[in-house]
Amino acid sequence: MEKINAVITGVGGYVPQYILDNDEMSKIVDTSDEWIMERIGVKTRHILKDEERNGAGVSYMMTKAVQELLQKTQIDPDSVEAVICATSTPDYVLPSTASLVIGNVGLKNAFGFDMEAACAGFLYAMEMGAGLIASGRFKRIILCGGDFLSAITNYEDRTTCPIFGDGAACVLMEATTENYGLIDSYLRTNSHYDPLHVADGGTANGFQQETDKPRRRMIYQEGRFVFKHAVTNMSDAVEYIAKKHHLTNEDIAWIVPHQANIRIEEAVARRIDVPKEKVMINIERVANTSAGTLPLCLWEYEKQLKKGDKLIFTAFGAGFSWGASYMIWGYDGSKFNKD
Ligand code: UT7
Repeated sequence: MEKINAVITGVGGYVPQYILDNDEMSKIVDTSDEWIMERIGVKTRHILKDEERNGAGVSYMMTKAVQELLQKTQIDPDSVEAVICATSTPDYVLPSTASLVIGNVGLKNAFGFDMEAACAGFLYAMEMGAGLIASGRFKRIILCGGDFLSAITNYEDRTTCPIFGDGAACVLMEATTENYGLIDSYLRTNSHYDPLHVADGGTANGFQQETDKPRRRMIYQEGRFVFKHAVTNMSDAVEYIAKKHHLTNEDIAWIVPHQANIRIEEAVARRIDVPKEKVMINIERVANTSAGTLPLCLWEYEKQLKKGDKLIFTAFGAGFSWGASYMIWGYDGSKFNKD
């Protein structure tokens, strides 16, 4: 039997209308454009305001992203068999965000579920999606990645609030017997609660009573500790997958890194000696959207992608959860971007 590969055949995305720039951020906390640009590399982030979301959460952005994907690819919505939503900020504990997206978009023949792996969520979702397709039982699925981080960001903590933004994107993943698509992944998870967590709101603390400490429902991060682990683990993972597949820096067309900090992205590229021009970077405009960063990079760079390009994705986040994936891109992005 021929091997079935899982290839990405389209990308959709959405970022909210409101843009919070560093000047406005400097009025919220004691910081400056200069510090944020130098230490993080963020200039602006999109924020999902109440006026825009009309009561919905991250599903609002994922729905918009999937609608754009369907419009671009012109596929029959009835042919979509599954939707996986990677997010740490679901609309509700239940039902799943995927069920909301499926209903909003009108996917009559799809099953869906959410998965949570913080900033590595989309990386893991690609592997899960490729597994469904490799089983031979599913041919066409949608993977969403995104987060509504402003809902859980502490805007009194200057060490975290400038980093985060809101956004979501999605990809269409389809079966092919050609040699394109997700080739291999190196994925890892260990257990580090203290340096990066949201304390309340899960079943350990806070389902039965309103917390009197709202900050415990927001992201806590020990920046320097997380920074070091992010650089080491993402660099090791990228180097491992490149070596395993005998990929030289010349072979690699693009590195697609989690957008956590421009200094982390640069350090990862330096480790395997890939020039900056081959690294997808949009952190300056959209900041860190957690599970949204990888698909939002694809969304932004799609028109530059060519059939046969070799991509290495890498991400790192709470857990810690991290890894790298090797993919051969399956279409010329310019076909969807005629401008
Ligand atoms: O996406 C999930 C994974 N997350 C990450 O990968 C994030 C990893 N961590 C980071 O990106 C960085 O550690 C941060 C951006 C969070 C912080 O940058 P840093 O260069 O590690 O800063 P720091 O925490 O070492 O603080 C350096 C100084 C401190 O002042 P002193 O003690 O040296 O006087 C901070 O108080 O910078 C100060 N500082 C700020 N100053 C102006 C911290 N935040 C700010 C700020 N504006 N926003």
